[in-house]
Amino acid sequence: MADTKKRLLTGLQPSGQLHIGNYLGALKPFADTAPEYDAMLMIADYHALTSLKSPTQLRENIIDVVADYVAAGIDPANVVIFKQSDVMQHTELAWIFECLVTVPFLSQAHAYKDKVAKGLEANAGLFNYPMLMAADILLYDSEFVPVGEDQRQHIEYSREAANKFNIAYGQTFAEPKELIMSHVGTIPGTDGKKMSKSYGNTIPLFGTDDAIRTAVMSITTDSTPVGAPLNPETDIAFALHKHFSPNIKELEARYRSGEIGYKKSKEILAENIIATISPMREKRAALSREAVIQILKDGAEVARTRAEAKMKLVREKVGVGLY
Ligand code: TYM
Repeated sequence: MADTKKRLLTGLQPSGQLHIGNYLGALKPFADTAPEYDAMLMIADYHALTSLKSPTQLRENIIDVVADYVAAGIDPANVVIFKQSDVMQHTELAWIFECLVTVPFLSQAHAYKDKVAKGLEANAGLFNYPMLMAADILLYDSEFVPVGEDQRQHIEYSREAANKFNIAYGQTFAEPKELIMSHVGTIPGTDGKKMSKSYGNTIPLFGTDDAIRTAVMSITTDSTPVGAPLNPETDIAFALHKHFSPNIKELEARYRSGEIGYKKSKEILAENIIATISPMREKRAALSREAVIQILKDGAEVARTRAEAKMKLVREKVGVGLY
């Protein structure tokens, strides 16, 4: 019964092809936990506008990301899947939060500083980003928010928005908690940095077998010669093996004894990744564009009803809801 379960919500930007980092860091933990909760999955298309300026690309990315998530195990019968822009109450509530937090507070956000340091335009949307995210979470009274480590501070910002509102207008929002899968942590990319599209170090989730092999074979290694022991604690490929190997203990022993070299290790990794994702790939190929659009329309209807109930209360509390 949806009513008796705790609410859980997560979001992701439709920023192109999903990679193994998204899958292990967010998608899989979400799919595994969703059945225990009243779960919602939001496509953050307005967040994406802070950096993506191609309408064609954005449209395609939205459809792709929903198809990817459904193919990878999110069941629209149990999870409300919707896009942010379909529920206007998100931007409406974000504005109210923006009127409660200060510029110095927002300017401390790591994600904002990192993105600007990477050369992204410091537009006002990027700056206000955490308040739109707070609205995403708080509109639905979400108790839990499954995210990767990089989003931890954004959840703190959501708690702060809830707190500021409650102090100003009376208890309205419960403080949400992040659900960070500690055993997953940050998934490294092929160069050892966090796997991220903007670093160009990704292994695609739905790439062709060859694209996956090429990405895996490009994983950075040191110059240890074949036959010498390898250190599983520092090897990037080994960090990924942990998520795909059917027998990680045996592989670890082979690393330490020098029985396996980097090349062989990467070949095994590529084949294990391919074996894991090939059933998902078949499911994805069978999903039509129309089916994806229907999922989004159905999800938007549920989300809108929930969001409007909360916003009606919020409008009254702040003094703009007169009738
Ligand atoms: P986004 O789209 O950058 O990433 C989606 C989710 O994937 C996780 N993630 C990773 N986890 C581990 N290792 C990695 N290499 C890796 N790369 C990505 C992210 O932590 C995230 O959980 N601001 C959010 C989207 C958002 C949101 C929300 C999330 C908007 N509104 C409300 C939760 C609740 C973002 O840009 O995620």
